[in-house]
Amino acid sequence: MEDNIICNCMQVSEHEIVDAIKNKGAVNVQDIMDTTSAGTACGSCIDDIETIVKRERQK
Ligand code: FES
Repeated sequence: MEDNIICNCMQVSEHEIVDAIKNKGAVNVQDIMDTTSAGTACGSCIDDIETIVKRERQK
């Protein structure tokens, strides 16, 4: 499931977003945008990124 593409524009998978949170110190959507470039084109995936950030930070 973690290999789902979350950001179609930039071809960023859920795995890459989780990795940015766990291993690269990303704590919010802006950090994910900076580290993976997910969410930096059309922006339609930002809600999904936010959901993943919230979910991972609750672990
Ligand atoms: S789907 Fe992520 S910026 Fe367009």
